[in-house]
Amino acid sequence: MSYNRKKLAPRLGELAKKMAGVSARDLKECVQLQVALKRTGRFKMLGGLLIERGYLEQEKLDELLEEQRNQGIYDVPEIPDYTIKHRIGAGGMAQVFLANQVKVNRDVALKIVTWEDPEGKDVARFLREAKSAAKLNHPNFVQAIDFGQVNETYFFAMEYIAGPNLQEILNLYNRLSEVMSLNIANQVATALCRLEEEDLIHRDLKPTNILLDGDTVKVCDLGLARPVFKEDGEEDFMLTEQGAILGTPDYLSPEQARSLKDIDIRADLYALGGMLYRMVTGKLPYRGESPTSLIYRKLYEPVVPPKVHMPDLSDGTAFLIEKLMERKRENRFQTAKEVLSEGRACLNQLTSDTKTHLEIIGSETGSVLESPETRTRAPSELRPALLFISGAAAGRHFPLTRDETIVGRQSSCNLCIREPWFSRRHFAIRRRDDTWQLSDLGSRNGVKVNGKTVDKARIHYGDEIEVKDTKMMFVLEVDSTGETRSV
Ligand SMILES: Nc1ncnc2c1ncn2[C@@H]1O[C@H](COP(=O)(O)OP(=O)(O)OP(=O)(O)O)[C@@H](O)[C@H]1O
Ligand SMILES: [Mg+2]
Repeated sequence: MSYNRKKLAPRLGELAKKMAGVSARDLKECVQLQVALKRTGRFKMLGGLLIERGYLEQEKLDELLEEQRNQGIYDVPEIPDYTIKHRIGAGGMAQVFLANQVKVNRDVALKIVTWEDPEGKDVARFLREAKSAAKLNHPNFVQAIDFGQVNETYFFAMEYIAGPNLQEILNLYNRLSEVMSLNIANQVATALCRLEEEDLIHRDLKPTNILLDGDTVKVCDLGLARPVFKEDGEEDFMLTEQGAILGTPDYLSPEQARSLKDIDIRADLYALGGMLYRMVTGKLPYRGESPTSLIYRKLYEPVVPPKVHMPDLSDGTAFLIEKLMERKRENRFQTAKEVLSEGRACLNQLTSDTKTHLEIIGSETGSVLESPETRTRAPSELRPALLFISGAAAGRHFPLTRDETIVGRQSSCNLCIREPWFSRRHFAIRRRDDTWQLSDLGSRNGVKVNGKTVDKARIHYGDEIEVKDTKMMFVLEVDSTGETRSV
């Protein structure tokens, strides 16, 4: 038997594109702004941001919200003791809301699933697993608070984390510094050590289930992975009618993809390896034209060594990733403890000779968005920045604090890049009220924005700027100071 989930309300962004003609680019800008704000612990609704940036009128937003309601967002019945404030997000099977737990007057994240499961068998298992997870109390797990059921609706209340999830950070920055990546991975490994003690498995580690609460990494959705019982009582991964796996197979271990029954912590270690791969290289470990071809590769082909994408990666981290991602679990690290000690050794190695690693951004305490100079400051303001994706400065980023930043090879430029293909004064980025414009300053090699050579162009957060082999991204980051710097 498989679940019949009720249809989830569409995302506001999708409706804004479809019904209000908001361009993908403007939407992306607002989503990025939302994530950058989350890093400072503030939450703004996407609708509000679209209005603030002038991409949507209030009247149109009301219409979209009405449509969202019509399509099911409030398919959620009253849940005793909780007042729902607004939707935080939605995944493949559930919607997550910010809610107030009235009795104790605190904000919680309320995950809500509406299932039609007449026998209640699958749901019973869901609740049983979730309850065992709730017993865990550990700083690297999102604390579970409460479970319950109202008719066909099942809810799961947990600690509310104001920060973004790792996927959102990766969408914004594409790849993270090696130090930052190891820092996140080590905190996940610490959480897995605790699971190991309790003889539990997560089963669904992936970037959307890793929340960043300031510098602390919180693993969520423990025990919420959805194995289901087949008719003969065997466990299987939750399948759609067509037999497709729900959720992303990107981080799924080969043994889970094979539907093996005796899944153990080594499946979580594989997923951790996949996430570390994604963080340091900016690439998914496997690609496929379809989920099936992706899984085929996962089963039969070794992963492309991370150093192929990122030659400067330390040998230690490259080894750690490859050993975590061994297809046969007996060839992987066998325990989370081993992984943690290896991960810590890699991090120590890097941080002890930080000076020789120009590419490193972030700090030992794990703040990804601040440049090293600002690591002790409390995040407050949001500022645009250029994040280098490739070239000698890959991984570094430079806040744009002036109304005009000149980028070029000459040392008098605000941002001096010593790569031969840069002209002395290559391009300028200028603020125009609330928008930003890039102008080529008559450079020899030209400058591309999102793959197109431009003379003058308005740029948006998330845009890629390219000068021959140097790629950078125009992003929004948290509180930094901008001085003349050299790369
Ligand atoms: N405790 C929490 N505090 C704050 N935000 C949360 C919390 N739990 C989940 N979220 C956010 O809610 C969104 C939806 O989460 P959900 O777990 O339903 O989906 P998912 O993990 O993206 O995908 P899947 O359904 O495949 O597991 C995510 O963007 C996540 O960041
Ligand atoms: Mg999740």
